Amino acid sequence: MKVDGTHYRSIWYNEKTSTVQIIDQRWLPHEFRVVDLTTREDFVAAIRDMWVRGAPLIGATAAYGVAVEMARDPSDASLAETWNVLHETRPTAINLRWALDDMKARLSPLPASERAAAAMARAHEICEEDVEANRMIGVHGLEIIRAIAARKKPGEEINILTHCNAGWLATVDWGTATSPMYHAVEAGIPVHIWVDETRPRNQGALLTSWEMASHDIPHHLIVDNAGGHLMQHGQVDMVIVGTDRTTAHGDVCNKIGTYLKALAAADNGVPFFVALPSPTIDWTVKDGVAEVPIEERDSSEVTHVQGKLADGSVSEVQISPDATPGGNPAFDVTPRRLVTGLITERGVCDASPEGLAGLFPERVID
Ligand code: MRU
Repeated sequence: MKVDGTHYRSIWYNEKTSTVQIIDQRWLPHEFRVVDLTTREDFVAAIRDMWVRGAPLIGATAAYGVAVEMARDPSDASLAETWNVLHETRPTAINLRWALDDMKARLSPLPASERAAAAMARAHEICEEDVEANRMIGVHGLEIIRAIAARKKPGEEINILTHCNAGWLATVDWGTATSPMYHAVEAGIPVHIWVDETRPRNQGALLTSWEMASHDIPHHLIVDNAGGHLMQHGQVDMVIVGTDRTTAHGDVCNKIGTYLKALAAADNGVPFFVALPSPTIDWTVKDGVAEVPIEERDSSEVTHVQGKLADGSVSEVQISPDATPGGNPAFDVTPRRLVTGLITERGVCDASPEGLAGLFPERVID
């Protein structure tokens, strides 16, 4: 999507410098910094320390990490070790394992001399597939927004609440939850977005708000606790969130706080949709609460916040007493019974084994 009129993706290969480049998201929206990732250690740090984040982007970054390492050492041992070190970076988003498994399966049968070129080609392809999947999520999600618009007065805004950042910065382009929003705007449907701040790291306040503002999409930033109140007062027409891992039975793991939004939506009859490209489906697990590992991040993310000071510099401040420890589970699971539908690149389905099997008949779901 565009930044000051220039089209950017969240990750790209720069032919001139022969390097993989990313937007270092730790500094947004206050500073726009592009950095080169040149070694495997750079890729590990970028994912682990959240220079890049968001399930699809983590997967794409890992794919490039494998490609860069294969150019240095294409041996079997290097491939296995690269899978391990990248896989350890973040445990919840399944796109990471999906991308690493995909790369390993394609590279393992090849002679070492062919691995570097094949790995780079596949990393590019993973990015293109992600962009196309998210575009199609927008096409399908637009139909849901159209249906809601048809029930409102002509010209009346559709109020959509979203949590965390499932925008283009979390994918290669378009975003998952945001793609239907962009498509609605292009179709001339008036939308207004309620952006949850998304403590502790404030991905909504920092990233989603910036994405919305950059594309002149009407929006308001709200505190995480405001959603239930807005729903009770008819000010939310639908919720669209992303996901880090959706199980084969339709349970949705996403940024901490998503479950509470789903509960409030169910209590108020507000449709709750989840937008996801298929690499975010973990076909090996059924019960999200029991089976999905939840990342526990550093407590400093809870006890401290980062922001812009009056002099324009970006700084961090402590908000809690010195003696108070922080607890920081980064994701939660929304049971499928609270999900109205899953918006995928192949269409919209129920959050159920039958719904997913209908869209992905090549998968065996028990
Ligand atoms: O911890 P983060 O910022 O990587 O968490 C991101 C999310 O939870 C997103 O909602 C999810 O990855 C979907 S992104 C399309």
